Amino acid sequence: MDKPQRVVLRERDAAGTLTRTAVSHIGLSVPDLASTAQFYRRVLGMVVHRALPGGGLRLGWGRGHHVLDLVEGEAGLRFYAFEVRDGNGVDGIAARLAAAGHPVGELDAGQLDAGQLNAVAGPARGITTIDPHGTEVQFHTTVERDGETAADTGRRPIKYQHITLGTDDVETMVGFFTGVVGFRISDQLDDGRFAWLRSDRDHHTLAVVDVGRGGGLDHYSYDLAGWADFKAWCDRLTDEDVDVTWGPGRHGPGNNLFVFFDDPAGNHVELSAEMEKFHDDRVTYVPRRWKPVPNTVNLWGGQLASWRRTSEGK
Ligand SMILES: [Fe+2]
Repeated sequence: MDKPQRVVLRERDAAGTLTRTAVSHIGLSVPDLASTAQFYRRVLGMVVHRALPGGGLRLGWGRGHHVLDLVEGEAGLRFYAFEVRDGNGVDGIAARLAAAGHPVGELDAGQLDAGQLNAVAGPARGITTIDPHGTEVQFHTTVERDGETAADTGRRPIKYQHITLGTDDVETMVGFFTGVVGFRISDQLDDGRFAWLRSDRDHHTLAVVDVGRGGGLDHYSYDLAGWADFKAWCDRLTDEDVDVTWGPGRHGPGNNLFVFFDDPAGNHVELSAEMEKFHDDRVTYVPRRWKPVPNTVNLWGGQLASWRRTSEGK
């Protein structure tokens, strides 16, 4: 097999604009709504916040902003969203999107349950656009998150932490998110087929990986409180009859602990802890370029996720 091509992904104009932006919620279409919702209640400790118009369910951790909108249908990613806490963040993104010729719409208040007022920032508002693969992406202002970082971290993760999108064009996705939206590149594979992007102090809140087709979810991840909880969660998955599909292990990029399982719709769900922190105000960092070998994403043993191949075919 030919040696993999070396590709250097470059940050574009708006890179670094966002420093206080994180994933917020995600919308999935699932073939069996009832069993999938029940799975998230049983395994991840979620509760149903409310029914969605048209028959879906909104889930979260009971207080504050929700995490997951489920509707019944063919399995797929319907939309993904970010909470932008940067000053002028949402308006800035909207202006950059419009200037670059991307469609910008106002986010429906029902998407945010904007009735819950934030004492500091007022009612949440947001915008919606589409990413280069045509998937809806939402950006909204500060919302209440008092359901997160709550007690009982052995029964539920701390928060939804990152999303990894499948693509067949990593360069275009990185161009969109660094050139227009405002992310930075934290790390990449040397063959340009995987890039980890940051928008706050976490090593990545968003990643894009070449899966040979455009669009859709590769996996998404929830944060655990730390090593002790991570260990307990690996046992908990066994107790709940949830098969681990990858890990436990430690990623190179991000240096985070990981363990993966599938939800009933076949979505790859990650539990993660100890992600590397970035303090851009204090250090200069040059993105690393990792070899496209299994040990990069699995420092402890090199086994690759069953659904993934490196450019070397391993
Ligand atoms: Fe991940």
